Amino acid sequence: MPEQSQLNYSRRGKGRPVVLVHGFPFDHTIWEAQLEGLSDGASILAPDLPGFGGSRPGLAEPDIEAYADAIAGWSKELRLGTIILAGHSMGGYVALALARRHPKLLAGLVLVSTRAGADSETGREGRRKMADEVMKRGPQATVDAMLPKLLGAVTRERDPGIVDRVRETMLRQSKEGIVAALQAMAARPDSTPTLAAIQAPSLVVAGTDDAVIPITEAEFMVSHIKDARYTQIPNAGHLPMMESPEEFNRALASFLRTLR
Ligand code: MLT
Repeated sequence: MPEQSQLNYSRRGKGRPVVLVHGFPFDHTIWEAQLEGLSDGASILAPDLPGFGGSRPGLAEPDIEAYADAIAGWSKELRLGTIILAGHSMGGYVALALARRHPKLLAGLVLVSTRAGADSETGREGRRKMADEVMKRGPQATVDAMLPKLLGAVTRERDPGIVDRVRETMLRQSKEGIVAALQAMAARPDSTPTLAAIQAPSLVVAGTDDAVIPITEAEFMVSHIKDARYTQIPNAGHLPMMESPEEFNRALASFLRTLR
């Protein structure tokens, strides 16, 4: 990790910077297949959000906007210029906040398995309960609550080892990072008004078998973003970049070609 940066990250390849932001409660390693498969002709950068992976400590204030500012500040420190930003799930909430706060930074936007809306009151209550559980039992509480829903049935059948890989990634995260992210997600504003204001070329990607964020949320975003492209990944659940890396990389590479 270069000394000037507060965020841990992996970087592969040379060319236009493509920044991949992970969801909750993961780290940059969910993008391994993209670091490997897309770095021919692009510079692929995958940071850990504050409080996750190797980016410790976390945020002073749990706030989605603060994650967005951290990504924007880090990309400026690295002198990346304009970036193509892809955000997965919570990383998508961060990407939408960044689109609102730093629109000039974006040369392209990719929203993966995410949604524009804020949490419902029931959703917020669920976050509070999960934060209490995590304080008592650590990251195992997120595994118990989320792992059964994260992967598509076809993925589990085809690649049984993926369940352990995802579990290990979740168990590596710190209690403090997880709790801050739960608070940040619960407090995040509705990004629906942001969608119509997005100027950067955009791509929305979703797994057809996502049991965490229904594919109708992707369709909603596509219908509100001007000229958005849309790719459904058949049989993938909430982690299409890991579950169907080849299809995912094809979709992203084809989008990147339209930006040249
Ligand atoms: C994620 O994958 O980032 C989370 O499932 C998002 C959320 O809990 O809203």
